[in-house]
Amino acid sequence: MSTPHGRRASLDKQPHEVAAMFDGVAARYDLTNTVLSFGQDRPWRRATRAALGLRPGERVLDVGAGTGVSTEELAQSGAYAVGADLSLGMLYAGKRSRPSVPLLAGDALRLPFADGSFDAVTISFALRNVTDPEAALRELARVTRPGGRLVVCEFSTPVNPAFRTVYLSYLMRSLPAVARTVSSNPDAYVYLAESIRAWPDQAALAAKVGAAGWQKVAWRNLTGGIVALHRAVRE
Ligand SMILES: C[S@@+](CC[C@H](N)C(=O)[O-])C[C@H]1O[C@@H](n2cnc3c(N)ncnc32)[C@H](O)[C@@H]1O
Repeated sequence: MSTPHGRRASLDKQPHEVAAMFDGVAARYDLTNTVLSFGQDRPWRRATRAALGLRPGERVLDVGAGTGVSTEELAQSGAYAVGADLSLGMLYAGKRSRPSVPLLAGDALRLPFADGSFDAVTISFALRNVTDPEAALRELARVTRPGGRLVVCEFSTPVNPAFRTVYLSYLMRSLPAVARTVSSNPDAYVYLAESIRAWPDQAALAAKVGAAGWQKVAWRNLTGGIVALHRAVRE
């Protein structure tokens, strides 16, 4: 969908719409994230790395890596971390800001890797944007070796009802207003708010992960459930 400010995808998004929308926010993506999350994105990324239990020398794939901000964090473990993304704009921004992070073009629905290539796979704040999240979870299982691990880091549903009300009001009113002052495509952040509200809660996402061929599915809430980390194992 074209707008005077740029592009935003509708909730029944197409891959080219999603890629174009992220091309439009790439230039200021990292900064906007940190501002809109009040700096919480950093601890969320650290928790994702810890949940993956990476060991030096292991191979980990970060799908929907964008500018590589999530991939860079994974490499802190000593594992070999590679990122893949659909948006060339995000990848170019990442190549400029993080030249040492391996990033490549790839679709979560058709990953350019052989079966069982990775010890661990992860997707941060991106499963919600994929046109077919269930198919992406199956594709992630395909490229993971037996015994390998999955961590999905995604916005979720705050568990406390009062906090949930305050948060949803921030999401639908204040977040698009703040995005207007920092982002290169504020309309993309209207989509962000709408897509978070429409996303399944913790238990519903866990069921989807299990149905996609993953075992031992569990989750942990971060920041009261604003974000949830879903872990699973490929048997
Ligand atoms: C909100 S960004 C997240 C970037 C990064 N993982 C982070 O934690 O900040 C979502 C990313 O998912 C990517 N994406 C959406 N659909 C995709 C798909 N089918 N395959 C690969 N990447 C996809 C977008 O291009 C975008 O860069």
